[in-house]
Parts: sequence; structure tokens; C-alpha cells
Amino acid sequence: MKLLVTGGAGYVGSVCAAVLLEQGHEVVVVDDLSTGNADAVPAGAQFVEADMVEVAPDLLGAGAFDGVLHFAAKSLVGESVAEPEKYWRGNVVKTLELLEAMRAAGTPRLVFSSTAATYGEPESVPITEEAPTRPTNAYGATKLAIDHAITSYATAHGLAATSLRYFNVAGAYAGFGERHATETHLIPLVLQVATGRRPEILVFGTDWPTPDGTCIRDYIHVRDLADAHLLALQTSKPGEHRIYNLGNGTGFSVREVIASCERITGGPIAARDVERRAGDPAVLIASSDKAVTELGWKPQHTTIDEIVADAWEFTRSRF
Ligand code: UFG
Repeated sequence: MKLLVTGGAGYVGSVCAAVLLEQGHEVVVVDDLSTGNADAVPAGAQFVEADMVEVAPDLLGAGAFDGVLHFAAKSLVGESVAEPEKYWRGNVVKTLELLEAMRAAGTPRLVFSSTAATYGEPESVPITEEAPTRPTNAYGATKLAIDHAITSYATAHGLAATSLRYFNVAGAYAGFGERHATETHLIPLVLQVATGRRPEILVFGTDWPTPDGTCIRDYIHVRDLADAHLLALQTSKPGEHRIYNLGNGTGFSVREVIASCERITGGPIAARDVERRAGDPAVLIASSDKAVTELGWKPQHTTIDEIVADAWEFTRSRF
């Protein structure tokens, strides 16, 4: 297929673009490099450095694309609370423009990067797609708003659409990994301690209602996530908007993640217990049963050590 990948210079977008190319697809990446890196665009992809809204109408109109994988987004939870306008414009307004460009060009398929943050604080775990969507920050709210817009476009205009609600994406693949200028995610931060770029990892809260008192999250390997995107492209149907949660179905606590990083890096990691971080739910674990059943998705890298090992290999190769 010929595919437009927005945000293909970012973490998840670059890995997915690499896997699409490996599978023989033609890939055009559009990324304004506001948070991405030009050298994260995989070799073999055509790269257009631009705001997707400015170039999507011409690109899609001229190019006979079979689909769009839409990764480009603002994705810092804390920033979204402090500066929601950036998220409503950057995520919702821009995606509506993209949807219009796709409609005008007759682009048939869309795979959208949604998030577990659309659910907010869960009533029960594992979280299924039927769980109530009550986002607790503007990031999750904007992703949920986009999911609703996509549903109406699918129903009214025949788009074959899939939203993938990622839980905690981690790991690396084919030399592409997580390297945000503003890093907030646990695994890359712990690995920065291992490389000496950071003196210690702060453990946000040790009095949560969990076995060791630290928060539990569902870490999913970015390579497995990429597989789900390919399956979504292959199985989506015109006029349908399908939504799938993507996680491992297993949770690991902050302390378990740190212990895994110590095993993989072979040394102790300095950690300091501090207050809870505002807005963190105690436990987030996905039910991915729907993706397994309907997409035929089979995550391959499900242990925390495999995920951390790949993240570590990437970190060591760069820093
Ligand atoms: N944590 C620490 N210390 C740190 C960083 C994180 O203890 O320095 C803890 C957090 O409190 C949390 C866990 O590690 O309990 C994981 O935190 P991350 O920031 O790595 O990930 P989140 O679970 O907060 O965020 C993820 C995605 C978001 C998404 C959110 C909710 O990265 O995009 O889940 O679904 F919005």
C-alpha cells in the first residue's frame, strides 16, 4: 500500500514507518520536527518536512494514497493541563483538517494513535474498550474528541478507520527508540540514570494501594504496537471505526521496572521516594482481548526484561 505517516520522525511513528517499509509498503513521512528528529525517519521513506495541515491536501490529492497513519500529536500530559490550547489546536483542530483533506482526496483508510488516557481513572482493571471514557487531562480529552470525530467521518463518509489506544509504550526497534527532548516517561528516565546522565530516578509515591506501594502500568513493546497498526490497515472496513486497546495485559510496578533496569544494565540504579505525581492513577492495565480476537494480534515481547533490554540497547547506542 502507499501510506502517509504523520509524525513519522517521532518515537512510535518512526518504528511503525520502519516496519511498514520492511513489509514492502511505500511510505511518505510528514513531520514538522517540532518534537521529532530528521534522522529518525527510516531510510526508504520519502520525507516531507512540513506541518501536515499545510501539505496534506496537496500530498493526498496528488498521490493516490491507500491510507494515513496519524501519529503526529502533542503528547505531554502535564503540559496539556497547563496549556490546553496547544492540545485543542495541535491535536483536534489539525486532525480535523487532516480528515477533511482525506475526505477531499478520497483516501480510504486511517489508523489513529489514541491513548489509554481517554479512559481516565479506571473503575476496574483490566480496562476494556467498553470502559467509561472520562479523561482527566486535556491530552486524553483531545484524543477522545478526535476518536468521536473519526466515528462520524466513518459513518458519514465511508472511512475505514481504526483507533489504537496505547497503554505505556516502551522498547525500541531497528535503531529507533524514545528520545524526547522533554522526557517524562519512566523507562527512558531510569536508563538515563544508568548512563550517568541523571543522578537518580524519583519514585512518585510509595503509598499507592498496590503490593509494593508504587504505581502499576502496562508496558507494551513498540514493535508489537507496530504490528497492530499493520493488522489494522489490513482488516479495517469502509464505514467502520474500530477502537482497540493495546497493552500486554500485565502490569509492572515502578519498583519492578527499576529492578528490571538494574538486571539489564548490570548495576544499581539510584532511586529516591518522593510524593505522588498529580493525576496518576494507581493501576492501568489493558484488556487487549478485542485486538487479539478481531485483529489476530499476538504481542511477541511481553516480558519487562525484553522491553527494557531493547530500550537499553538503543540508549547505549546513542548516549
Ligand atoms: N514515574 C516515576 N518517576 C518518574 C517518571 C514516572 O515514578 O520519573 C511513574 C509514574 O508516576 C507512573 C509510572 O512511572 O506511575 C509511569 O509513568 P510514565 O510517565 O512513564 O507513563 P504514564 O503512565 O504516566 O503515561 C502513559 C503514557 C501517556 C498516557 C498515560 C495514561 O505515556 O501518554 O499513560 O494512559 F497519557
